[in-house]
Amino acid sequence: MSAETLDQIVSLSKRRGFLFPGSEIYNGFANSYTYGPYGSELKKNVKDLWWKTFVQKRPDIVGIDGDIILHPKTWEASGHIGGFNDQMVDCKTCRARLRADHLVEDALKIDCEGLPDAEVTKLIQDNQIKCPKCGNKDLTEVRKFNLMFQTQMAKTGEDSIAYLRPETAQAIFLEFKNIIDTCRVKIPFGVAQIGKAFRNEITPGNFIFRRLEFEQMEIEYFIREEMWEELFDTWMTEMDVWCTSIGLNPEKCHHLEHEKEKLSHYSKRTVDIEYDFPFGRKELYGLAYRTNFDLSQHQQFSGKDLGYRDPQTNEKFIPHVLEPTFGLDRSILAILCEAYTEEKLEDGSSRIVMKFKPQIAPVKVAIFPLMKKEGMPEKAKEIFSSLSDIWTVDYDESGSIGKRYRRQDEIGTPFCITVDHESLKDDTVTIRNRDTMEQERIAISAVGQYLQKQLNS
Ligand code: GAP
Repeated sequence: MSAETLDQIVSLSKRRGFLFPGSEIYNGFANSYTYGPYGSELKKNVKDLWWKTFVQKRPDIVGIDGDIILHPKTWEASGHIGGFNDQMVDCKTCRARLRADHLVEDALKIDCEGLPDAEVTKLIQDNQIKCPKCGNKDLTEVRKFNLMFQTQMAKTGEDSIAYLRPETAQAIFLEFKNIIDTCRVKIPFGVAQIGKAFRNEITPGNFIFRRLEFEQMEIEYFIREEMWEELFDTWMTEMDVWCTSIGLNPEKCHHLEHEKEKLSHYSKRTVDIEYDFPFGRKELYGLAYRTNFDLSQHQQFSGKDLGYRDPQTNEKFIPHVLEPTFGLDRSILAILCEAYTEEKLEDGSSRIVMKFKPQIAPVKVAIFPLMKKEGMPEKAKEIFSSLSDIWTVDYDESGSIGKRYRRQDEIGTPFCITVDHESLKDDTVTIRNRDTMEQERIAISAVGQYLQKQLNS
């Protein structure tokens, strides 16, 4: 049985150290979370796999690591200062701040994306939509709320206001000239980046699904205009393959074509990949054709030449761009939901097991001495030392073997090794498989090779 509610995921995440509520000793803070020991390993593995897939293994993509605080003009040029808004209303009674479009969508099942503020206000008032927090109907008129977090620089004056980036993409556009001047890239080519983005979401929620601070893994893939349709399809396939590679069931992943009238200001075509989360089908990733909007805007606002000269034809033009964007926190949430499995066992008991793909599992193998005596811990620690050179390994000597197995099942560890009496006599150990729960006895000298084969299969 897979996870039916988000609460099951939240509770396991806290219990096993995947995700803790942030600032918990101060009673928590605005939808903040800390990736705990196993969550941070899982996140690191997903980032590494993404970088390997899209940068390391591709001759046509290079990576960068840009700043979070960019020149404020960036956001004027990109359109974020003028247009990166949500529609908001306040409840005059309980002072709750609410997303107007979400209120209308929930109450009337109408998608009001793109409707003017006045029309959304009218819908709320005519239909007497109530505040979901206190039930009162006394709501303010709808107004725009810019989602960018502002920060004040130490220097004074008008230009002392800066913004925390709301998407990683812009740092890539700002470095376009440096990349073509320093790297031997030829169109089509991509620039990738992983990093934090910040959005002052009016209603964050659903655990790590909608956060104020989150990570994105983005690629800007620079192309000739005439290539866009063909390469859009290619990227859609690449993204579907990625979803499978992190263990998501293709039947739970769906494409959603954005209607032309509702596209972002920079996009000519956008398709979201949605995932069936326990709280409904929601956006996981997106693929957008951003035309040459961003480079043209930055060329205009900076006064710098951002043209690309084709080495063969000598023709100069501003490249168009396809943007596959992958939310890292949403990837982690989808992976946790997908991996979560409750199983009834033959003896009538049950277990929760996180069936992560071995490549992204936070811990690859756990080592247990059967008892804390007779030299078993020493032998187990020797195995720990040799394996931890290659993989993330847990060492656990507390409690019964059964309890240790259950703990590792909930962490999603593919293999557990037990050092017992026989190990001391003949240098063999048992290896237990997380999914089948079957155990094999093998020589300690063969453990490394065994794991190498199993973890890569
Ligand atoms: N550069 C394009 C861009 O930022 P987006 O659809 O606004 O497009 C890209 O965001 C991805 O970032 C989303 O598909 C989602 O995975 C993730 N994302 C967006 N807002 C988020 C939030 N508040 N919390 C967590 N992830 C978010």
